Amino acid sequence: MIDKYNREINYLRVSITDRCNLRCTYCMPKEGLSTIGHDDILRYEEIIRIVTEAAKTGIAKVRVTGGEPLVRRGVVDFIRMLGTVRGIEDISLTTNGILLADYAQSLFEAGIKRINISLDSLDARKYARITRGGDLQAVLRGIAASNDAGFSPIKINTVMIKGFNDDEVLDFARYTIDRPYQVRFIELMPLGEAGARNDGRYLSNAFVRNAIGNAYTLEPLNGSRNAIDGPARLYRVAGGRGVIGFISPVSEHFCDSCNRLRLTADGHLRACLMSDNEVDLKEPLRRGCSDGDLQDLIRAAVAMKPRKHGIVHDGNAIRKCMKDMSAIGG
Ligand code: GTP
Ligand code: 5AD
Ligand code: SF4
Repeated sequence: MIDKYNREINYLRVSITDRCNLRCTYCMPKEGLSTIGHDDILRYEEIIRIVTEAAKTGIAKVRVTGGEPLVRRGVVDFIRMLGTVRGIEDISLTTNGILLADYAQSLFEAGIKRINISLDSLDARKYARITRGGDLQAVLRGIAASNDAGFSPIKINTVMIKGFNDDEVLDFARYTIDRPYQVRFIELMPLGEAGARNDGRYLSNAFVRNAIGNAYTLEPLNGSRNAIDGPARLYRVAGGRGVIGFISPVSEHFCDSCNRLRLTADGHLRACLMSDNEVDLKEPLRRGCSDGDLQDLIRAAVAMKPRKHGIVHDGNAIRKCMKDMSAIGG
């Protein structure tokens, strides 16, 4: 489906739960966060029905997200069901990796071939601090298990936080030299309640790229962005096996090539990560609406997609407050 700004919308991110087994400080309050009651979470069958109608409007790629998607029971069977939806050509998953060592093989067999894993520090103590108790070794085992299972590409998402992991930029760059992974540096966005804590902690990717460029020869891989690279600009350390990506939602808006919609765990379609405008699908779905009605609602969400988001960076602070990332699915 082409929107009014001539973008092809073919990618749906599906959050299957807002719960998470970590509590990353920039994402969640200490006590955790689940604002959605059990009955308000879409059932798997309901998600499949939405994806089926979305595919008829032009969605061909689905990414399963959370919270942490692997904490929801039945996720592997759900993914297998997704694979049977006509028109869906690509299914991927974003996870924090904590449970991945146990799940990698069965996820691969269920039809997921591409996986993105969040990892903000390579230092066990710092990792535990930012995630409020996470076990770095479990994630590293999960990454290795994904590689063994055959996933490709394996993307590692690293949100850069000033004063926390900016001293690890070169460690992450080195991580790509002898491993076939794509490490992506993501600029911190001021989302949700946790956003206030992120004030002053934003670091632009220009800084990160310079720091790596001063230590290594960085070769650009993609002149222009294409769908499979999503919002990332890709480079390689000369001679390295892996790839380095920069996702710069704050310093370099990529809204003009945005191809995505988001389905929240409580059944709302969100046209833009940064805009709280949503279309409720759950209520019409449970009222027994027709397939055509569902398609119309999906088109209505696309019609609401703004040309660009309004995040700005003023000195040290970037300001914008809305839903937490864990409730949207990244
Ligand atoms: P692929 O391109 O399919 O690998 O997926 P992806 O990079 O979109 O997925 P992932 O879940 O790994 O997202 C990485 C991060 O990029 C997100 O958590 C956000 O921080 C950022 N991001 C992804 N999509 C958008 C978007 O539409 N707008 C903005 N501002 N940031 C986004
Ligand atoms: N800014 C940028 N990225 C974020 N993520 C979560 N919160 C933020 C934020 N405020 C990232 C996670 C994960 C992905 C789905 O979203 O680190 O990799
Ligand atoms: Fe969980 Fe992801 Fe939020 Fe961390 S960033 S608390 S892993 S949802």
